[in-house]
Amino acid sequence: QSSEKLDLKSLIRSIPDYPKRGIIFRDITSLISHADGFKQSIRDLSAPYLDKGIEKIVGIEARGFIFGGAMADYLGVGFVPIRKQGKLPGKVVAQDYSLEYGTDRIEMHDDAVASGEKVLLVDDLIATGGTAVAACELLQSVGGQVEGAAFVIDLPDLGGVSLLKERGIDVHTLVA
Ligand code: PRP
Ligand code: HPA
Repeated sequence: QSSEKLDLKSLIRSIPDYPKRGIIFRDITSLISHADGFKQSIRDLSAPYLDKGIEKIVGIEARGFIFGGAMADYLGVGFVPIRKQGKLPGKVVAQDYSLEYGTDRIEMHDDAVASGEKVLLVDDLIATGGTAVAACELLQSVGGQVEGAAFVIDLPDLGGVSLLKERGIDVHTLVA
């Protein structure tokens, strides 16, 4: 790896009119296929947490698994998946959250995080914050101590980071 800092923003591809007309989709596949870009994103996302005593990384399906899994390895801690409804085989705790139209549900194994355990929430992107807030509620419902939430991309106009901060969650993002 070169020691020069890459501009991660320039490695994130923007695709117009996906998933519908008028939306510009920020696509991380171009970042993760770039070896040094992916490596730097994992290091930069992890940097604030090197000495925070994080015990588990919790990643949100699907793209949160890519970054969260690599961060768990880098930080030397376990990984816990939060999944969409019906995907986990064991006993789960669930949290509903609002979408633009209707609701969705995320789930986590009920024994994946112990009461008092220090966890870091990870996803590729925060938009409205609905998903991340639901994930924090899920973690807190089993007594998890959410030490922070880390995202590669923030879409600041959608207000998700403010929503998390209002709830006392410390937020770290790489690119706005
Ligand atoms: C995207 C993204 C976050 C969420 C952010 O996931 O990866 O998880 O939306 O949006 P919000 O802040 O408004 O809740 P998506 O639901 O597209 O799922 P996927 O990763 O499985 O494609
Ligand atoms: N990219 C990826 N996921 C998203 C986006 C985006 O631009 N907006 C909401 N979820």
